[in-house]
Amino acid sequence: MTVHFIGAGPGAADLITLRGRDLIAASPVCLYAGSLVPEALLSHCPAGARIVNTASLSLDQIMDEIRAADEAGHDVARLHSGDLSVWSAMGEQLRRLREMGIAYDVTPGVPSFAAAAAALGAELTLPGVAQSVVLTRTSGRATAMPETENLSAFAATGATLAIHLSVHVLEKVIAELTPHYGADCPVAVVWRASWPDQRIVRATLETLETAIAGEMERTALIMVGRAIGAEDFAESRLYAGDYDRRYRPVGTHPRFPESA
Ligand SMILES: C[S@@+](CC[C@H](N)C(=O)[O-])C[C@H]1O[C@@H](n2cnc3c(N)ncnc32)[C@H](O)[C@@H]1O
Repeated sequence: MTVHFIGAGPGAADLITLRGRDLIAASPVCLYAGSLVPEALLSHCPAGARIVNTASLSLDQIMDEIRAADEAGHDVARLHSGDLSVWSAMGEQLRRLREMGIAYDVTPGVPSFAAAAAALGAELTLPGVAQSVVLTRTSGRATAMPETENLSAFAATGATLAIHLSVHVLEKVIAELTPHYGADCPVAVVWRASWPDQRIVRATLETLETAIAGEMERTALIMVGRAIGAEDFAESRLYAGDYDRRYRPVGTHPRFPESA
């Protein structure tokens, strides 16, 4: 018996990996994490599967479900939104499973920041503009931020920020970022990226609050940085016609001669 942790993707039902879909189809039990996991994915469950929305369960109750499946010899498909490596509460479940001696594996999913970037048609790492992406959040009721991980510190690097779980404190986010990025810095808020009701607002740090007035639904990402919507950036050297590289030797003395 194995518990398969599966990244369910950002919302669109076809943004799950083939492996994830096949594991759901092969597991007699499916535990899924509430409204951020698209219900359409549950149609991959085998007939008669036990399907449980864990949104209202405690960690102990989730473990009771897994223990019962283990006793019955049933594999479990455990679905969390996006990818499991960020804000999934997978870590604490894996620790319990290790204590219980229950096998597990992990199948990655499309994270929401990638779905938001796709919706924007944006490369978040543009040459000469930004070469790092910070996935972060602000403190919530359930989770405080470690002291050194604050928006100002990340903003000081000039990296592209993908700020999760924070659209309800937009004013504070803008106030912390503006001294570093400037009031004219491009920003986009993407609600429910890849869902049928996806919405996008593009603005600057200065105009954002007015631009999204009234739109407070929480499943949103705030994407900030000069790379968002930039047109003034260098082309990458990798594809430059005169750039000598292993797969495209150039010049009279290529660094990687074809015969090497
Ligand atoms: C608990 S975290 C889950 C993150 C998820 N594990 C991932 O890989 O993106 C939930 C937060 O992720 C962001 N989020 C999740 N799905 C989203 C989507 N489809 N569009 C925009 N933001 C999303 C929102 O900031 C939301 O508050």
